Amino acid sequence: MAMGKENVRVLIPQEDLERRVAELAIEISRDYAGRLGGDALLCVGVLKGSVFFMADLLKRLTVPVQVDFFQTSSYGSGTTAGEVRIRKDVDLSIRGKDVLLIEDIVDTGHTVRTVLGLLRFRGARDVRLCSLLDKVERREVEVPIDYRGFEIENLFVVGYGLDFDERYRNLPYIGVLEAEPDPPSPS
Ligand code: IMP
Repeated sequence: MAMGKENVRVLIPQEDLERRVAELAIEISRDYAGRLGGDALLCVGVLKGSVFFMADLLKRLTVPVQVDFFQTSSYGSGTTAGEVRIRKDVDLSIRGKDVLLIEDIVDTGHTVRTVLGLLRFRGARDVRLCSLLDKVERREVEVPIDYRGFEIENLFVVGYGLDFDERYRNLPYIGVLEAEPDPPSPS
């Protein structure tokens, strides 16, 4: 997708993100308190989009955590729609662990379905999903989201980790890219 000059319209302001992340952290800390049996909660992020959200969320958790990452790539067109490949695997052992998968956005659902399946296959004791955004209209495969930040419309969003062509990840808010109208042509 090529785009000329873009404007970013704020969809979810920074204050709303901060408030919701704090709420999610309270909920997650409460749910896992007492069920880890002295072990740490293994928080697995999906690179690269989840890193901003994950850093803010994990700083607020009150249970012990470990951190690891997957990186995936998807081949989303034509007959290979939904094919997801693991480009970078986790380093830590999954077996017997309570795992919290952390995503920036669930769109079609193929990425998290693949990763959740792999975590279960590797013998995790329990696997849950936390996603900042849920683009529910676009779903092709059903994935239960245990902790969800915001449901959003079918819009292409950037910021707070999410990119367009590797740009915009460092915006402190979630925005929607809009093409700037062409300048009036000289008469
Ligand atoms: P899914 O496999 O279709 O659910 O896609 C999930 C991945 O697609 C996310 O981790 C993002 O990297 C990317 N993605 C989906 N929607 C958007 C968006 O609106 N902006 C930026 N990236 C997106």
